[in-house]
Amino acid sequence: MLITRTIKDLKNKISKYKADGKQIGFIPTMGALHKGHLSLIECSKSNDDITVASIFVNPTQFNNKEDLKKYPREEEKDIELLKQVGCDIVFIPTVEEMYPEEDKRQFNFGGIENVMEGKFRDGHFNGVAQIVSKLFQYVEPDNAYFGIKDFQQVAIIRYLNKHYLADLNINIVACDILREEDGLAMSSRNKLLSPNYRNAAPLIQKTLKKYKKDYKNYSVKELMNKITEEINENELLNVEYVDIVDNTTLKTVDKIIEGQTTACIAVFAGKVRLIDNIAF
Ligand code: PAJ
Repeated sequence: MLITRTIKDLKNKISKYKADGKQIGFIPTMGALHKGHLSLIECSKSNDDITVASIFVNPTQFNNKEDLKKYPREEEKDIELLKQVGCDIVFIPTVEEMYPEEDKRQFNFGGIENVMEGKFRDGHFNGVAQIVSKLFQYVEPDNAYFGIKDFQQVAIIRYLNKHYLADLNINIVACDILREEDGLAMSSRNKLLSPNYRNAAPLIQKTLKKYKKDYKNYSVKELMNKITEEINENELLNVEYVDIVDNTTLKTVDKIIEGQTTACIAVFAGKVRLIDNIAF
């Protein structure tokens, strides 16, 4: 596996593969890799000739300095894991490399940035768009892979790709959520959970699953309230929001339509913020 740390070196290495007509797959990450990340790499491995990953804890998408500071960083272990799954190139830049000057670009996503995560994490998606647009321009992949775990992020990336970066001709691939055996969605942040919070956290998915099964017995509003109440009954968990939204507009629905509706949730387990979702 080639390890690159500068944009120049990255572009140089990729251009050699492109000259040979190779199809490139790209997986951007913030590191502290787990099987969820690795499943995206594997997906690219089976679709593309060359798989490129990036590891960069992007400061502009953190609206909370403390969260940025305590975000897990495990570069050596990540490199080992990427080697094991057969990743071809990993790009690990510094903050100075990615932001030689302040990025003042403001993106507009037609409203989907103002709900759910956008409402509670001010500027988060603008920061995601800043870094992903830079990475897309440097890598210029044929396919880019994102996890549905970050449901709203996928919608934002699709919008960014279509409205701002159409000339790059990148195909966005959305991949399933990988879970721990007890149902907790895999996340780099799970490493920050102390054992009692880790034990409580599977209640999030368990509750979503329960009400997905029973959804016909309730209105959308009742469902959102029931899910919130049932999770908050556990004193270690505190729901920030539950929203049941249309897959395209991300607006709260009046009525659930199977295949077109998703329930999204953010929950604090102590100071650690976890997100998850379930498709109807
Ligand atoms: P990060 O949280 O490291 O996630 C990198 C990719 O892995 C994202 O597309 C995310 O949705 C996916 N992923 C995370 N957990 C997953 C799981 N349990 N199953 C499947 N896929 C999972 O998302 C980011 O980084 C950043 O915002 C980034 C796009 C890299 C921009 O900085």
